[in-house]
Amino acid sequence: MVVPFMKSNNPWQWKIADPDATQGMGLLYEPGNWGDLFKGLWLKPLVDLFPSDTPNTYIDPFAGRPHYPLIKPSAERLLKTFSNTPPKSISKHLAAGKLPSTASWFLEECCLQKLSWKAKVFDLSEEARQQWLGESKVELLPLEDGYQSLKLEEIETADFLLFDPYDFFDTWRDPLPRLFELSHSTLILIYMFNKAPRGAGYFQNYRALKRTLENELQSNPLSEMFWGRCPQDSTLPRAYHDLILLGPKDLVRRVSPELKEITHSFSQMIAREGWVE
Ligand SMILES: C[S@@+](CC[C@H](N)C(=O)[O-])C[C@H]1O[C@@H](n2cnc3c(N)ncnc32)[C@H](O)[C@@H]1O
Repeated sequence: MVVPFMKSNNPWQWKIADPDATQGMGLLYEPGNWGDLFKGLWLKPLVDLFPSDTPNTYIDPFAGRPHYPLIKPSAERLLKTFSNTPPKSISKHLAAGKLPSTASWFLEECCLQKLSWKAKVFDLSEEARQQWLGESKVELLPLEDGYQSLKLEEIETADFLLFDPYDFFDTWRDPLPRLFELSHSTLILIYMFNKAPRGAGYFQNYRALKRTLENELQSNPLSEMFWGRCPQDSTLPRAYHDLILLGPKDLVRRVSPELKEITHSFSQMIAREGWVE
């Protein structure tokens, strides 16, 4: 497999609402955007799939930092999403003015349910990696790049893999066959910033990914997929936040109805704001 590397002159950026609050973090996106909340909403039903009596491993090779500053737009989105009552799994962070990353949110969810999970994480940023060193139940993966995680032996025995690079929309052709292979035994959540609405070439790329996944599923009866999305913005979204769950057929089928409900109500909440001007 060719390992694509993150290009330093990445041509696209998400808007950062409050650059002062996240200064020095080198972020290409606003932590706590609708995509982050969407990912967070899927976690509880996914955690619920795992039995309480076995130790499990969560792998996150593009983990970001344990937490981010809770900036005003993120706080407003959170309150709206959770009707002013955020779940217990993030309330401790929010009270401290912090926004948990997905890995921290996942571990907290497991802790509340008394599940014994450990996390193995990596991030290209040295500073982010240093911050993970201080977190309990977390180990660093021995990598130089998150994409290399797919070659690690320990990934074969992981229970859950979050595959969340910035650029999956552009790089999916290289990692997808390996992700598919792993999905026979591991639950894999892929985040993708879906740029299909930006023009014909982008749309063709999205269609090619969809066709490839459907073809793989047809020839791999062990795996199943559930794909959900929400708009990036209420008004005239130029992109979507896509979540693609790949995994053993029985697990994905069991969790899909709940994920569908969550996705419908969350996406509708965002979109309806933009229906009238
Ligand atoms: C979208 S953020 C991750 C957010 C995090 N997974 C979460 O849900 O809270 C992407 C992260 O990937 C890191 N990154 C970018 N390119 C990478 C690479 N090639 N290998 C590992 N990490 C990378 C960035 O430093 C950034 O922190």
